[in-house]
Amino acid sequence: MKILQVEGGTALKGKIKAQGAKNATTKLLVASLISDQPCILNNVPNIGDVEITVDLCKELGSEVIWDKKAHRLQIRTPYLKTSYIPQRFSGSNRIPILMIGALLGRTEEDIIVPTAGGDRIGKRPINFHIKALETLGAKIEARVMKTEGAYFAQAHEGLTGGVIQLDYPSVGATENSILAAIRAKGSTTIKNAAIEPEVIELMLFLQKMGAVITLDTDRTIHIEGIKKFHPVEHTIVSDRIEAASYAVAAISTKGRVFIEGAQQLNMLTFLNKLREIGGGFNIKSDGIEFFHTGHLTGGMHLETDVHPGFMTDWQQPFAVLLTQTQGTSVLHETVYENRFGYIQMLRKMGADIELFRQCLGGKPCRFATRNYYHSAVIRGATPLVGSEISIPDLRAGFAYVLAALLAEGTSSIEGVPMLERGYEHFIEKLSDLGAKVKIVESKKSKPLAKLAV
Ligand code: EPU
Repeated sequence: MKILQVEGGTALKGKIKAQGAKNATTKLLVASLISDQPCILNNVPNIGDVEITVDLCKELGSEVIWDKKAHRLQIRTPYLKTSYIPQRFSGSNRIPILMIGALLGRTEEDIIVPTAGGDRIGKRPINFHIKALETLGAKIEARVMKTEGAYFAQAHEGLTGGVIQLDYPSVGATENSILAAIRAKGSTTIKNAAIEPEVIELMLFLQKMGAVITLDTDRTIHIEGIKKFHPVEHTIVSDRIEAASYAVAAISTKGRVFIEGAQQLNMLTFLNKLREIGGGFNIKSDGIEFFHTGHLTGGMHLETDVHPGFMTDWQQPFAVLLTQTQGTSVLHETVYENRFGYIQMLRKMGADIELFRQCLGGKPCRFATRNYYHSAVIRGATPLVGSEISIPDLRAGFAYVLAALLAEGTSSIEGVPMLERGYEHFIEKLSDLGAKVKIVESKKSKPLAKLAV
């Protein structure tokens, strides 16, 4: 098993290049399956989740040429070899479930997709996906196959456009609805849709493919079903989660890092919160430079939310940053009910953080009366000490790397493959910035945690 060893105490300095967005790339690969035409993607990150999605597409019949050095990938699926997604993809990530929307209009066969679980950051059910796809005429059933569960989906009569009302602006349910609506007969309206930049990226890609797809001012998306598709070339937007993670690394270690390709537009809310605590940044034409200004003031209230709110995946690195600010800050997680599992380890490293079941914030959220620890009070500044750490999920994992970079002494972090699923060449990037990080082999072996991205 690979162990990441991090020796804390070095200010990170230098320049790195932002990777393409994980949560856009994987969706565009799925979207390419709707059409029989070639699609070219540029700025594709070399990360585990893209590898898994490419394998999935190949399983279904996609021809893929991936030039990893050039970050360029060509994909074409002239016909579907199968619409059965084997159980080995079960729990690999959240992508298989989107295959239902992408394939429904392309085959009259049953689509069989392993069930998605996911208790590490919350239950992550797919009830919104199912309700939305059923609105367009799909029949979806959960059944047991051997020992594991699977969804059987079909639209033997074809899909027909309709009005989908989402109970919550779920990213995945919006994407699944869009994917299905492209080949549905007539027009589809999605109300209360997610408008995250990665969803917009999917819309841009599909428009290039020939779709007629519009976004109204009130979270409403309209799609006209089509049958004829164009070849597509698309350059993927930069990853705003990776960029925020390195921004926090720069500021909390009292360093200075330029992130080439980081985009102000998609980081607007993050940048405002950074400014509130005294974090420095310069926005340049080709990226953003982040730096420590000498004093970080806490005492802030931070609430995660759907876009354009403060994104839930920025919460974990930001919590580490708040441990280094003077004052008491309040963090309210409103997207996932169980996204503070990583706090216990930060406490062990010396952070002063208390968790609460109540909504400590401006507004009661969906979890107000549901007894989850979803608010945190962080008192800073506290020194951290190195520790032995096991990664529970992708974003918590990078937060631990950040904490280890700040800590006195050496930390040993288990779960490197989990980090590799979302962060491209992170050891090289951190080393280039002067961090003392290395991989060592341990004789212990432990399976990779599933389903947390
Ligand atoms: N939800 C339901 N029912 C559903 C769907 C969602 O109750 O049918 C709930 C979820 O349990 C959660 C909330 O709605 O409490 C939001 O979930 P959403 O569907 O928006 O999330 P997702 O599509 O599963 C994507 C990203 C996540 C990111 C969220 C929120 C991918 C592969 N994952 O998840 O990214 O946190 O949107 O922006 O795109 C990550 O990259 O590490 C990651 C977890």
